[in-house]
Amino acid sequence: MEATVNVNGVVTDGDQAVVSVFDHGFLYGDGVYETVRTYNRQPFLLDRHLARLRASADRLALDVPPTDADLETRMRDTMRRVNPGGEVTLRILITRGVGELTYDPAACARPTVVIIARPHSGIPDTMLRDGISVVVASVLRNHPRSVDPSIKSNNLLNNVLAMQEAIRQGAYEAILLNHRGELAECSQSNLFAVRDGVVLTPPLDAGLLEGVTRNFLFEVGADIGVAVNEAVLREVDLERVDELFITSTTREVIPVVRVGDRPIGAGRPGPIASRLLTRFRALADTLTRTSVTS
Ligand code: PDD
Repeated sequence: MEATVNVNGVVTDGDQAVVSVFDHGFLYGDGVYETVRTYNRQPFLLDRHLARLRASADRLALDVPPTDADLETRMRDTMRRVNPGGEVTLRILITRGVGELTYDPAACARPTVVIIARPHSGIPDTMLRDGISVVVASVLRNHPRSVDPSIKSNNLLNNVLAMQEAIRQGAYEAILLNHRGELAECSQSNLFAVRDGVVLTPPLDAGLLEGVTRNFLFEVGADIGVAVNEAVLREVDLERVDELFITSTTREVIPVVRVGDRPIGAGRPGPIASRLLTRFRALADTLTRTSVTS
């Protein structure tokens, strides 16, 4: 696995990077993370990712001692030799740190800050051309009063269990329902439907991660005159939608053509997802061209 890793400021090749087994991130999943990708080798929407990282950490009463500027410098140092000339995916993790085997946060003197930089592997064109299949997982999205899905935490078993179901059924992603039976999001992405030319996505109240790409898509839609609104959606609504697609930092916009054994709309990628992706990429390109190059 090609990677360069920064552990508390020390950069090494991926296979040399080590974190203690007494780190509470390893022991308890006690930590938060972000996945950021570059366009034109510039981290895209970094300010939004770092704001969410801090918001997630606050919810765990977890300190993030480095400033945003320091985190950005560390990211740039870490990615410097990765995939020269190509794009990079960065995973930033902040864990509680190393301490006694207790849930008491006071046991850990300082958080561990890890940055993993890897070559970005974009979505294959065939996936955009043919679309993907997803399943509705039997496992429910965590209740917001349990491990709140709005916290981007390292505690990912809910997502892992859902994705295992997708893999077993040969699907690319798993949709999770919430405790009320509403569509919430997918294991690693947000979910959007198109009905009568209007794009709909579950509201935050459904219990989901407020995706940076999801939020950016409201702006992309406004830019091309496509309404993107929040709406409560249920599994039966999937029978009445014209298009379905997922979004995430690494996946941008991918059309979904099948949920389980049911085709979506005409059973092939639709025009609105495609227009949104084209505009999304153009905006990502423009926004990263105007920032300083590393
Ligand atoms: N996943 N929902 C979940 C559960 C996610 O894990 C992700 C992101 C998203 C989309 O968020 P964003 O648009 O900010 O990437 C929604 C990242 C890519 C990951 O797990 O690596």
